[in-house]
Amino acid sequence: MTQYIGKPLNRIDGLDKVTGNAKYAAEFDTPDLLYGYIVNSTIAKGKIKRIDSSKALALDGVLQVFTHENRPKIAWLDMKYSDQDAPPGSPFRPLRDAKIKYNTQPIALVVAETFELARYAASLIQVDYEEDAHQTDLQVNRHKARKPSLGMASLLKPPPPKPRGNFEEAFNAAPVQMTGEYVHSMEHHNPMEMFASTVVYEKGRNKSGARYTIYDKTQGVTNSILYVAQVFDIPFKNLRVLSPYVGGGFGSGLRPQHQLFLAVMAARELKRSVRVTLTRQQMFTFGHRPATVQTIALGASTDGTMTAMYHDTVGETSQFEDYTEIVSSWGGMLYPAENVKFDYKLVPLDVATPLDMRAPGGVTGISALECAVDELAYKLGMDPVEFRLRNYTERDMNADLPYSSKELRECFRQGAERFGWVKRNPEPRSMRNGHTLIGWGMATGIWDANQMPARAEAVMMVNGKLRVSSATADIGTGTYTIMTQIAADTLGMPIEDVLFKLGDSDMPAAPIEGGSWTAATVGTAVKTVCEDLAEKLFKLARKMPNSPFAKVDFNEVVFANKSIQLKKDPSVSVSLEAVVDSNGGAAVRETSSGLPKMLKQRKYARTAHSAVFAEVEVDEDFGTVRVTRIVSAIAGGRILNPKTARSQILGGMVWGISKALEEETMMDHNLGRIMNHSLAEYHVAVNADVHDLDVIFVEEHDEIVNPLGVKGLGEIGLVGVPAAIANAVFHATGKRVRDLPITLDKLL
Ligand code: MOS
Repeated sequence: MTQYIGKPLNRIDGLDKVTGNAKYAAEFDTPDLLYGYIVNSTIAKGKIKRIDSSKALALDGVLQVFTHENRPKIAWLDMKYSDQDAPPGSPFRPLRDAKIKYNTQPIALVVAETFELARYAASLIQVDYEEDAHQTDLQVNRHKARKPSLGMASLLKPPPPKPRGNFEEAFNAAPVQMTGEYVHSMEHHNPMEMFASTVVYEKGRNKSGARYTIYDKTQGVTNSILYVAQVFDIPFKNLRVLSPYVGGGFGSGLRPQHQLFLAVMAARELKRSVRVTLTRQQMFTFGHRPATVQTIALGASTDGTMTAMYHDTVGETSQFEDYTEIVSSWGGMLYPAENVKFDYKLVPLDVATPLDMRAPGGVTGISALECAVDELAYKLGMDPVEFRLRNYTERDMNADLPYSSKELRECFRQGAERFGWVKRNPEPRSMRNGHTLIGWGMATGIWDANQMPARAEAVMMVNGKLRVSSATADIGTGTYTIMTQIAADTLGMPIEDVLFKLGDSDMPAAPIEGGSWTAATVGTAVKTVCEDLAEKLFKLARKMPNSPFAKVDFNEVVFANKSIQLKKDPSVSVSLEAVVDSNGGAAVRETSSGLPKMLKQRKYARTAHSAVFAEVEVDEDFGTVRVTRIVSAIAGGRILNPKTARSQILGGMVWGISKALEEETMMDHNLGRIMNHSLAEYHVAVNADVHDLDVIFVEEHDEIVNPLGVKGLGEIGLVGVPAAIANAVFHATGKRVRDLPITLDKLL
């Protein structure tokens, strides 16, 4: 039954969000709450010689200043346990010792009666440093590039595949060639909600130890509780982490951030409830999208067949963890070139460890590759869509596997038609309106369709309502809504009688919400547990006195209208409420796991695709770029909710504008310090930058990816957009800008 799946339902949590009923981590109140404010280092490398908190401590209402000198003994500070999204290496451990590993690292926590007082007291702390020479410039340190020596982050981030064929030979023999170097700047996540942890402390009764209820800004309460339990050696039964609403994440909440450590540490030491929030400026004091330098070389025969492909990436990491992502290998999944070589190296710098940021690696690699492909198509005198169709592949050449489904051809067709691509004059600078140069460009996007294991619980309650839960997150993506739809359809319930809850570590465990895998992962767990609950309810119905199902099999019934009905005669039915009644009036509950069907899945490559068409207007005199129109055609499997799905893609497109033209973390390399750590100077796309955005969902059926046939939409909306815009800028101006963002100085 699919009464709700596929329908454009409004967000279940929409009303709570717009009326202020939805509470975020820093909004949960508790009596006698203390406030922590973090002090950050002002040098990039060296050590603290002296730290003097006396002036801060002298203030009325300041309870404590924690530094590396007086912090409690915590065994973890000498261990390497990290978290579910940690790259190999040793995690940054706040207040561990006097060492400074990057500029703005936390070096002290002031705890006071009010936030304002803590913040003021923090300004009175005096620090003397012994400074060492630092390195923060990727370009200057490029020669130090090395293989990730600590290994790649996880199975999901494999190193580039081995070379195939002979790139050098094929490239040298190719009559048409292009080579280019692509420099992308560092970027920072700027979700609306800043990081915060509110730790509610309850004294232990008897020997049970203190209890900590933690409201944390996170993309995974399971990740946070595992972290706190292991870092502080607190038993799970004394811990609970909640994160019912998250005001945006984009990957920043995939790792527990240092405010969580500091808030729990302070609460434990002071035996009081403590909240630590970061300011907007402090949002720039941890992970970021790494700066990268990519080199691409492509060769083709005169008929437009790509014969040779080389993609090399040098990315930055910190001195203590090897953050890796897949940047170089996407070309092997998009194009069937027979002679390919991919490389990926890191340069350790005196910066915070980079962190997954929406479409990590993918948008970086594709933004460069799809510009290179555009350039090659120009050299061939071929239309860029035609070039991509000429070099289309039904197989992922890296994995040497067929795609479980791939409607990219249809994305090109429908996207081009909607955009009016046939009217394009391929000649650069040929489409103008006075001093306004008009450019049309396009690009392809690709992103993995993964599924992870997850658990969920379903309860048929005495009031006849269904309650389903899983410790997943909704970072604004629509998790609440689509899970409610899946549960309602699986048990034939009206949607208003279904309650889906998430973001609580007491619920069955789910992985971090990231990688575009939540719809597939938690969706499968929800579907599975509702199916299992259905069987349980049916067994109870069979045992009821005078049950019409006494001699009926499970496969002969359906769940509809809050009842179990005989398929061939729906008038033979038992209401779910009656079934619960027959259970001695107790709710009927089931907990199940949704597991990926690995044997089936691993014979196929599983990805979502997109074709993006963009129009820009460039002012010939000023070099200002406006993105006037984008059409994005998405092949993302089954669409559970066209409304929330479209919003996901729109968000990705807006970010694509932002990434192509605006976002750039600027470092003063003399100080090794970020200069533009505020939303006034770190530019992101705002309403005035966003014009006509059009989303097409191409029909795509896939029975292999997961039982729901969904591919995830969190990242595919972004991946192809920056390249489409950069290609449109070339078409408008005749200038090939290979460095992102394309700011006006690069066009003059
Ligand atoms: Mo996304 S960077 O996996 O939150």
